[in-house]
Amino acid sequence: MRLDRLLSNMGYGVRKEVAAMVKAGEVVLDGVVLKAADGRIPVTADLAKRMTINGRPLDPPPGLVVILHKPLGVTCSHKEMGQLVYDLMPKRWRRREPAISTVGRLDKETSGLLLLTDDGELLHKIISPKRHLPKRYLATLARPLTGEEGLIFAAGELLLEGEDKPLLPALLEPLGPTTARLTITEGRYHQVRRMFAAVGNHVEALHREGIGGYDLPPELAPGQWKLASEADIAAVLG
Ligand code: URA
Repeated sequence: MRLDRLLSNMGYGVRKEVAAMVKAGEVVLDGVVLKAADGRIPVTADLAKRMTINGRPLDPPPGLVVILHKPLGVTCSHKEMGQLVYDLMPKRWRRREPAISTVGRLDKETSGLLLLTDDGELLHKIISPKRHLPKRYLATLARPLTGEEGLIFAAGELLLEGEDKPLLPALLEPLGPTTARLTITEGRYHQVRRMFAAVGNHVEALHREGIGGYDLPPELAPGQWKLASEADIAAVLG
């Protein structure tokens, strides 16, 4: 890809600005100052290790996956009021092309594991309803569990209000009188909250612990993120 196009698509500036950065000797590949903004360079995953911009490592090239510990009060949207999940990452990333998007959504008042990527194919693989990737949530409830919820959720017959297709079976693991882990394989709107509402309860706090075979790393504090490795992505896909 042309160097100016690559850097411009990665949010470093419009082509003119990128050309000026190259002219000023700010772009270095394998220790060599690049001279031609219109020169072509192969876009490989190791480029971030080999290229520096103004002495700093290049951002991850296209094909990135971010693992975010979504904090409460932050919205999964590109253009809503208040703090957005994209505000937790470098500003430049908002201008990237292809754009980085969340893999599915968590409610503003849900915390936990959220993936973001600019890889449309991977995004669809993860959210595809056909794949039935399990998503594990920790729910804190307003009222004690009655003991009947597990069977109701497991039956695969629960109809959410306003819907005509029953939910797929889901696994409930009670952890205490008002706490439970719920594993679902769909991603319907406000699904966990609506499932507990359907059995007469109310979710007071919700946290996503994991997707597929991947758990939110304990070292990631709310608001922190890291880039996913190949092994992380393989674990998500189970
Ligand atoms: N179910 C919900 O109700 N909310 C979420 O954020 C995720 C799943």
